[in-house]
Amino acid sequence: MKAIVTGSGGLIGSECVRTLSREGWDVVGIDNDMRARFFGPQGTTRPVVEELVSSLPRYRHVEADIRDRQKVRDMLQQERPDFIIHTAAQPSHDKAASIPYDDFDVNALGTLNLLVAARDFCRDAPFCFTSTNKVYGDRPNTLPLVEKETRYDYAGGLDGIDETMSIDSCLHSVFGASKVAADVMCQEFGRYFQMPVGVFRGGCLTGPQHAAVELHGYLAYIVHCAVFGKPYTIYGYKGKQVRDQIHSQDVANLFLHFFRNPRFGEVYNLGGGRANSVSVTETIDLLAGMGFVLTHQYVDQNRVGDHICYISDLGKLRAHFPDWRLEYDLGKIIGGIVDRNVRQFHAQEVSR
Ligand SMILES: NC(=O)c1ccc[n+]([C@@H]2O[C@H](COP(=O)([O-])OP(=O)(O)OC[C@H]3O[C@@H](n4cnc5c(N)ncnc54)[C@H](O)[C@@H]3O)[C@@H](O)[C@H]2O)c1
Repeated sequence: MKAIVTGSGGLIGSECVRTLSREGWDVVGIDNDMRARFFGPQGTTRPVVEELVSSLPRYRHVEADIRDRQKVRDMLQQERPDFIIHTAAQPSHDKAASIPYDDFDVNALGTLNLLVAARDFCRDAPFCFTSTNKVYGDRPNTLPLVEKETRYDYAGGLDGIDETMSIDSCLHSVFGASKVAADVMCQEFGRYFQMPVGVFRGGCLTGPQHAAVELHGYLAYIVHCAVFGKPYTIYGYKGKQVRDQIHSQDVANLFLHFFRNPRFGEVYNLGGGRANSVSVTETIDLLAGMGFVLTHQYVDQNRVGDHICYISDLGKLRAHFPDWRLEYDLGKIIGGIVDRNVRQFHAQEVSR
């Protein structure tokens, strides 16, 4: 079996490559290290690609750009994969406003390039698209909330946000809008062309491998700052904003479940659910408890359209994939990110 993974150097893409390789797949990865162009050298995913190439004999890397329509068509025609996982993206909510053309070209047009090529050359191959909960724009902020000591939460006992929330008539950010275009196009190819396309609206997808930067990869970045003693800035909501965290390995496993039981153009909210939810303040407390005291400042102005409380309702995912389980709870997720940062910190000290 052969899979194509776009964004194979990134957090989710590289985890999918490793997971599929362990299961005996041939994997062709597409990544042009555009993350370094978006976020500077700290964002580079090149070392990850080098590690995949050197450690996985059945991994092949193609330094292609998903904006290159002909290249994408040629690749899919030549490779005719059994499975496509599309994770390549401009992933930052905040960054997109300063690079709207690049953001739309990568997120929307790059996705269209893959969908059309998949339809023409391997239409029966399950196709997983990593969308985002930012397609709901700031609508989650209109839900009634209660303020607790360390976090906001939904009033009235709502467990989380499900897929019935409207994506229309709200403030999305430029990133959210380009992802809406891709998200709806993926649904359309699923329904109109009867292709097995799954749309996964991620919240905070995380893990030790994230090339975290301030503008993308919240949990990995805050841990990095705590371990390396770098100052961290909290933007608004008294630091009580909540996110549910899911480990990249749980995401990769889920995609394999979709491969085995695909549906046409189905949409899923993807996160760690209530049990894996944490606020910024709570994260800081957890890190302090582990011996890493974060130096931070507070800015009253929140990020434009930033969610106050976002927790995914995993009911639909669990109903459609009853054998899929979250293997990583919050402690294991944070512990893994801390361990990696500590190792990097010591390696840096030694090389000085
Ligand atoms: N990490 C999260 O918290 C999160 C949350 C919601 C949604 N998502 C979505 O999940 C997907 C994966 O996220 P991630 O955190 O792994 O991102 P990432 O930035 O770590 O990985 C994306 C990879 O795509 C590559 N890439 C970018 N543009 C490219 C192009 N034009 N051609 C080829 N490769 C290109 C980058 O170099 C990078 O290696 C993205 O679609 C993102 O929007 C992520």
